[in-house]
Amino acid sequence: MKGLSVIVLAAGMGTRMRSKTPKVLHRVAGRPMLGYTLGLAGRLGASRVVVVVGHGGEKVRAGFEGRSDGLRFVTQSPQNGTGDAVRCALSKGGVPRSGDVLILSADVPLLRIETIRALVRIHRRGKGAALSFVSTLAPDPSGYGRVLRDATGAVAGIVEERDCTEFQKGINEVNSGIYLADASFLRPAVKVLKNTNAQGEYYLPDLAAVAADKGLGVRALTHMSPDELMGVNNRVELARAERLMRERIAGRLMLSGVTMIDPASTYIDDTVKAGKDVVVHPGVHLAGETRIGDGTEIGPGVCIADSVIGPGSHIRSYSVIESAKTGRSVVIGPFARIRPGSVVRARARIGNFVEVKNSVVGEGVKAGHLAYIGDTTVGRGANIGAGAITCNYDGAAKHRTVIGAGAFIGSDTQLVAPVRVGRGAYVGSGTTVTRDVPAGALVTARAPEKVIKDWARKRGRAGKRG
Ligand code: UD1
Ligand code: CA
Repeated sequence: MKGLSVIVLAAGMGTRMRSKTPKVLHRVAGRPMLGYTLGLAGRLGASRVVVVVGHGGEKVRAGFEGRSDGLRFVTQSPQNGTGDAVRCALSKGGVPRSGDVLILSADVPLLRIETIRALVRIHRRGKGAALSFVSTLAPDPSGYGRVLRDATGAVAGIVEERDCTEFQKGINEVNSGIYLADASFLRPAVKVLKNTNAQGEYYLPDLAAVAADKGLGVRALTHMSPDELMGVNNRVELARAERLMRERIAGRLMLSGVTMIDPASTYIDDTVKAGKDVVVHPGVHLAGETRIGDGTEIGPGVCIADSVIGPGSHIRSYSVIESAKTGRSVVIGPFARIRPGSVVRARARIGNFVEVKNSVVGEGVKAGHLAYIGDTTVGRGANIGAGAITCNYDGAAKHRTVIGAGAFIGSDTQLVAPVRVGRGAYVGSGTTVTRDVPAGALVTARAPEKVIKDWARKRGRAGKRG
């Protein structure tokens, strides 16, 4: 958007969160709140985005610095209020002296770009305004600044709840903390703000009265969805924002062709992408940079984080997949665990209580039950029996196991790494393999069985005698 700079307020103490983590780093649907605000600023195509940080500023910077070109951080210390924060941004942030300045709070994660576009339209209409802002009619206005209007209905000012008279507390048109100001009005205006109020802070909302007193019309976009504009100040509000955000994400996914059996019990981060005809069962968590291919079914209680799941697959109940990649048409679970660094290739089947870590499981491999595959390369079509274990750790270092294509690893075997089992080789059940097995060979290491006849009966007698 031409001629637009953005100031993001993120320096507040966030006292009401009662947290060591700065408020704007608390996550909503997997993303820090500030991430939503910066995402919005990015999509607006602003020439300059200045983030005002203070409380925990180093942590906040560390998470976002260098993410995009026009992004700059300024420190407000001490945090003397939202008006003071904007003054800081204007003096240190390289905001152009002309053009429009959009001011956003980093604690309003549900704000949509359409609302900003509407605000810009209202603000720029005709000769343009000195100041515009977004208000909303809140069923419960408590905690928000109330919008004061004069007899003609024009905005006369905004008063914070703590400074409200009893009558003013009854006003339910509230300030959402989103403003658009002409830079040439804003620069001098933030300098005349006073801190004679209940909190002894410089309040940005006082700009409304500054403009009105000068006879400059203040334009309000009265928005009809208080939910979208909710500010997150404590953890009750954080949970509410989380629920609303998840509803929004679920809605977006369903409209794009994902079936969700019960969206209310499904937890999908904002960063997740899912293809057409994906089916998501209740209790599923999809987190981080996860991608689900077309037609894949995600069973009840499955947790997937930062993973790519190929199309046409079935991830069955209560499986956990982290930082892994799977090919097309795989079947995983129920109760399987795929740990970071794993690649499971097309048509492989990983069954119940199988753990895979930092391994490549080849195409069509079957590992149906109770196995540990760690630091291993499993060739295509190999079969891993129940209870097979790669012993990848010798107490000091991790070692790799290589299993050739088409090999058969019998049940209850241990492959002591580093070790290789050649193509098409067979490892007999119960074998502990410590040396490489050539292709096509059979290896067994079993003590011969000893059968003692009548043992039980004799023992029984012995017992009686004793
Ligand atoms: C603010 C508005 C209120 C509005 C509400 C909407 C003020 C005084 N009040 O109240 O009218 O209804 O938002 O959500 O502005 N911040 C700084 N520096 C500071 C203080 C705050 O950067 O010195 C940042 C905070 O990190 C936060 C934003 O400004 O992101 C808003 O501050 P907050 O304390 O949450 O204001 P509210 O009490 O919610
Ligand atoms: Ca707030």
